[in-house]
Parts: sequence; structure tokens; C-alpha cells
Amino acid sequence: MLNGKNILLAITGGIAAYKTPELARALKKAGADVTCVLSQNGAQFVSELALQSVSGNRVYGDLFSLTDEHEMGHISLARNADLIIVAPATANTLAKIAHGEATNMVTTLLLATTKPILLAPAMNWAMWENPATVENVKTLSVRGASMVGPVAGELACGEEGMGRMADIEDILEAAEMALELSGPLKGVLATVTSGPTHEPIDPVRYIANRSSGKQGHAIAGALAELGAEVTLISGPTNIAPPENITLVNVITANEMMAAVNNSGCADIFVGAAAVSDWRMADTKKQKIKKQSPGTVPELKLTENPDILKTVATIGISGGLSNSARPQLVIGFAAETENLIENARRKLAAKGCDWILANDVSNETDTFGGDDNQVHLVTRSGVEEWPRMNKRQLAKKLAEKIADTLLDNSRLANAHLTSTKDVS
Ligand code: C5P
Repeated sequence: MLNGKNILLAITGGIAAYKTPELARALKKAGADVTCVLSQNGAQFVSELALQSVSGNRVYGDLFSLTDEHEMGHISLARNADLIIVAPATANTLAKIAHGEATNMVTTLLLATTKPILLAPAMNWAMWENPATVENVKTLSVRGASMVGPVAGELACGEEGMGRMADIEDILEAAEMALELSGPLKGVLATVTSGPTHEPIDPVRYIANRSSGKQGHAIAGALAELGAEVTLISGPTNIAPPENITLVNVITANEMMAAVNNSGCADIFVGAAAVSDWRMADTKKQKIKKQSPGTVPELKLTENPDILKTVATIGISGGLSNSARPQLVIGFAAETENLIENARRKLAAKGCDWILANDVSNETDTFGGDDNQVHLVTRSGVEEWPRMNKRQLAKKLAEKIADTLLDNSRLANAHLTSTKDVS
């Protein structure tokens, strides 16, 4: 979970700050990239050099310097992180962030971030139990910050009580949990189809296409990274499935259709699979024998179900329950000519919300390649996206999906409020 994540470790002025090089080391060992931000008070207890040595990254200080802002503005620092850990979080820092103050680098970053925050409070027991701190902790929890500790034990002041910073292992575990629970698509269900389908002709031959599944798999992974619960329904591919998704392997279009319906209701459907439009009308049970020279077998084809159109117009049938249409149904248009025109036509014909149109003529190397260039066609217009790696494209798409769902829910809330006002 921590592997490859950018963690911003903000250290404020408590004695427990002396443990933070150990925390930074443990986070790094778990595969995270750690950048430390040290408040002026924190610097009384731990040296910048120690933090820089273990994290391998420069340490940002309390004051804004033009060099810092030029190198990495405080907004970018707050946004580039996957998680911000404040350890130790003093009573003073908790009070400041609960009230939205931005009086030093740490509080400014916390005010500017949209990323999950994990607080590891440490202080004297009486400060922890003071109603002001209790209230601040409650405010921060309600706003979505995660907490770890404090724990009971001997305190720096010599007294015993609740106030010690949580153990390093517990902070690591809480960090994993905070990352898992976060993400703008948390609680959103997504079904993604990917790869080609294989339609058997006889026991040894089949109809297929050049789809590698790279784009569909990357989309499933990017949605999961933003917190969505993803079911990836994949035709035969040679690539590893992304992490944190439920994989359903299928071979034919009929199997893919059934798996989509079995996946139950979804908020988002992305049909990235290159589903074969036809299958054999009558799959042969035995291998078709080569006939005398000059004679070729005639293959009679029949139409496959159109999965995207079914989901967009009828919905996902989900076994016995009624069909429900996902909020957002997204398809692909792999074209070799008249890209935009065909994509617009497809958007209307399939009844979906967005079409990602890509040129798959041979020279583009889109089928099977690592890069893709798409136009996003919606009812309100066309956006041309630059050529990029399929993973980057998946990330961009997942972020666009998250933004759209957020806008939809804002609209729904606004509507609810305005109806309430009227009544
Ligand atoms: O009609 P066409 O195959 O060009 O449409 C492409 C889009 O429709 C893709 O998103 C593809 O995954 C989807 N599709 C489907 N079921 C089919 C054919 C295409 O879901 N039988």
C-alpha cells in the first residue's frame, strides 16, 4: 500500500520529534518516497540533516523562501503528496489546523492540501484531555483527518498518562489505512471491460483482434487508485492485472456480457474491450478439415450482443434485480478513418455518455502499443488529448471521471437544497 506513494512527513515541536528519522526510515523501507517538512519548533528536537539523510530528500523549513517556492511551491508540495502525516502533532498544531490557520509552513500545507491527512498527536496528558483539544480533535476527525494515538505511558515531562506518540509500526499501519480509505472515488463501483474476445470457429481456431488489453487494464488500475471498487472483465490477454481490483476472465463476447451482468450494479462502466462484433453462427464441434484444393469452407457468422449499447440503454441486469444504468457509461471508438464523425455517430447510436475515439490505423501502433492518442467526444463537444502513455491516459480519464461524479453530486445536492428552500 505504501509502495511508490509520496508521503509528506510534517514534524512539529514536540519531544517525540526525535523519533521521526526512525519513522521516515520505516516509511522508506515500505517503499514510500518521503519528504519532510520541519517546523521551527520541531527543529528544536530533531536536526534537518538527520531527516535529510534518512529521507534522501531535501527538508522544507518553516519560512517561505524564494528558492523553495521556485523549486517546489508550497501548493505543489501539498498536492504532490498521496498522504500527509503530521508526527508529532502538538496540541498547538491541532488547534491551528482545526481553525484553518496558515501561520507556518506545516499549517499552510495542511490548509492547501486536498489529500488525506494522518495526525499522530503527542503531548502532556492534561493537554490531551483539555476540552479545547478534545473539541479540536473532534472537528478534525469530522473533516476526515485520520488519527493514530496518542498512547498511554511515561511522558517526556516525567508524568504518566495518555499522550505518548503512537509506535512507528502503528503509524505505518494507520498510514496504509488512511491511503486505502481515501480517494475521490471511494465507495464508487466501476465495471471495466478490457482486451479482445476470442470467438471459436472450431476447437482449434478462433476469430480475434489485435487488442492487448493495456488500455482497459490501465483504466481499471487508475480507477482503483482513486478508491473505486473495480471489477475488471478481461478477454484473453498476456498482461498482469492491476492491483486492488476483482478480475473476471472471459473468452467470448457472450461470456463478457454475462460477466458484466453478474458484476451487479455499477456507478461507472468503461467498455474498453475490443469485443468481436460477430461469432460463428454454428461453432463446429470438430476441427474443420482442409478440403480439396480450390474449395474453402464458408463460415456463417451471427451478431454478438453489443455490451456497451446494452449497458447504456438497458443497464446492468444484475441477476434477478432490475436493470440499472450506471451514472457514467464510457466507450471507445477504434477507427481507421473519419474518427470524430464516427465517434459522434457511435455516441448517439450506443446511447453512452462519453466516447474515447482513437485512431487505430496501422501507423499509429495504438493496438498493442504503449501510447495512445484520443479525442474525448461527449454530447457537449470534443476534447483533443495529447498523445501519451496508456497509463497516463488512464489516470487522466479516472480524474475526469472523479471530477464529473463530484460535479453531479454537487448538482444533486444543490437541487436538494433548493427544493428544501422552496418547501
Ligand atoms: O461498435 P464498435 O465495436 O465500433 O464500438 C466500440 C465500442 O463498443 C467499444 O467501447 C467496445 O468495447 C464496445 N463494444 C461492445 N460490444 C460489442 C462491440 C463493441 O461493448 N459487441
